[in-house]
Amino acid sequence: MKVLRTVGELRQAMESHRNAGQTIGLVPTMGALHAGHLSLMERSCRDNDITVASIFVNPTQFNNATDLKTYPRTEEKDCALLEKAGVDYAFVPSVEEIYPEPDTRVFDLGAVAEVMEGAMRPGHFNGVAQIVSRLFSYVNPTRAYFGEKDFQQIAVIRRMAQLEGFDFEIIACPIVREADGLALSSRNVRLTPEQRKIAPAIHRTLARSLDMTRDKSVGEVKQWVKEEIDRQPFMTTEYYEIVNPLTMQPTDSWMTSDGPAVGCVTVYCGDVRLIDNITYSK
Ligand code: PAF
Repeated sequence: MKVLRTVGELRQAMESHRNAGQTIGLVPTMGALHAGHLSLMERSCRDNDITVASIFVNPTQFNNATDLKTYPRTEEKDCALLEKAGVDYAFVPSVEEIYPEPDTRVFDLGAVAEVMEGAMRPGHFNGVAQIVSRLFSYVNPTRAYFGEKDFQQIAVIRRMAQLEGFDFEIIACPIVREADGLALSSRNVRLTPEQRKIAPAIHRTLARSLDMTRDKSVGEVKQWVKEEIDRQPFMTTEYYEIVNPLTMQPTDSWMTSDGPAVGCVTVYCGDVRLIDNITYSK
């Protein structure tokens, strides 16, 4: 595996593979890699001739300075994992390399970016659009891979791709969970042992709510999920929304015109912000 640190090197390497008629898979990450990321690498390596993974803790998508500062950074270990996963290139740039000038672009991301994470973390999705659009234009991949844990982020990236005229495939990959159901996240390492024991209650509660769709309304289930999570020690629900899977708009129906509704939750477990989601089908 080659580690590239400059945009110039990355563009040149990708161009030579494209000229050779090879397909390229891109997996953007912020590092602190876990089995969820590795499942994206595996899928990309299976689907494409060449896989490039980026490791970049993107400052423009953090709206909280402490969160940016405490975000885990484990480059050496990450590169070893990528190499083992069969990735061909790791792109590991500095902040100055990506943003020699501040990025002042404001994307018209529309309604998909206004609710849930968009409402709680102002500017977050614009920052995601800034970095992902840059990576898309440097690599010009055949396919790009994102994890469904960040369900709303995928809708926002699709919207950005449409605005910017990127017409390659954006592939959403299933959430990977610990044996006890906790969704894998780089933030899980910040949970204390006591919080870690309680954290699977998030997925357990969402999974239990699947059985309620037969005789309960969306509103009733929303309230039940929030109460059930909030009665656990350390846990406070920031939001639980049940939304249309494409538009991200809250819905009152278990089945929407775009497919089964999806429940998206954000929970503070102590000061660690965890997100998860589940697809309902009646
Ligand atoms: O999901 C993430 O890890 C980040 O938001 C992404 C897509 C790598 C952009 O920095």
